[in-house]
Amino acid sequence: MAAEDTRIEPWKPDHPSWQDLQQLISDLGQYDWVSFQADWHIHSQIIVASEDARPVGFLRFVVQAIGPDADCSPLAISGEPLVEAKILAFGVLPDRRRRGIGRRLQIAAIESSRALGCYQVRSYSDGHHPENHRLKLALGFCAHPVMRPNGKEGVYFIFPLRPAAA
Ligand SMILES: CC(C)(COP(=O)(O)OP(=O)(O)OC[C@H]1O[C@@H](n2cnc3c(N)ncnc32)[C@H](O)[C@@H]1OP(=O)(O)O)[C@@H](O)C(=O)NCCC(=O)NCCS
Repeated sequence: MAAEDTRIEPWKPDHPSWQDLQQLISDLGQYDWVSFQADWHIHSQIIVASEDARPVGFLRFVVQAIGPDADCSPLAISGEPLVEAKILAFGVLPDRRRRGIGRRLQIAAIESSRALGCYQVRSYSDGHHPENHRLKLALGFCAHPVMRPNGKEGVYFIFPLRPAAA
C-alpha cells in the first residue's frame, strides 16, 4: 500500500475499528499511557493512522495548563493562562515504520494543537527511543535533556506554536 493511502484522522470510541486500535496499543506496550488520566487534563485526543480501516499507528495527546503536571503553578502571561498539548503515547506497527507515518501523526498533532489554541506541544522520551528523538529533531522540536532522580536520562521535546500576548 502506498504511503499516501494511509489515513490520518482523530478517532473516538464509537469508531467501528476501536477494538483493533486497543489491540494495537496493547501490542505496542502503550496501554498505560493511553489510559492515564489526571485532574489537570482538559481534553484528550487520539489520532490514528489506518490502512483499509486497520489501525497501523496512533498518537495520544492531552491538553493541559502549563505547569501543574510538574507540580508548578499554571503559567499565565498578561492574565492569559497558557495551555499545551502533551503527547503521552505514540507508536507505529513495526512493519509499517520508515514510511513517514510517524511524521504525519506528529504533524497532525501539531495542527490539532494549534487549532485548539495551545501555546506549545511537549513530550517526554526516555533514552531508549533514538528513532523518536531523530523524528522530533527532524521536525524542529527543541530539546531539553534531563536526568531523573532514579538516574535515568530522558529528553523533553517542545514545539512552540505561537507567541503569547505581549
Ligand atoms: C518512533 C516511531 C513512532 C516512528 O514512526 P515511523 O513511522 O517509523 O517514523 P517516520 O517514518 O515518519 O520517520 C520520520 C523520521 O524519523 C527519523 N527516524 C524514524 N525511525 C528512525 C530510525 N529507526 N532510525 C533513525 N531515524 C529514524 C528519521 O529522521 C525519519 O525520516 P527519514 O525516514 O526521512 O529518514 C516508531 O519508530 C515507533 O513506533 N517506535 C517505537 C515506539 C516509540 O518509540 N514511541 C515513542 C516513544 S513512547
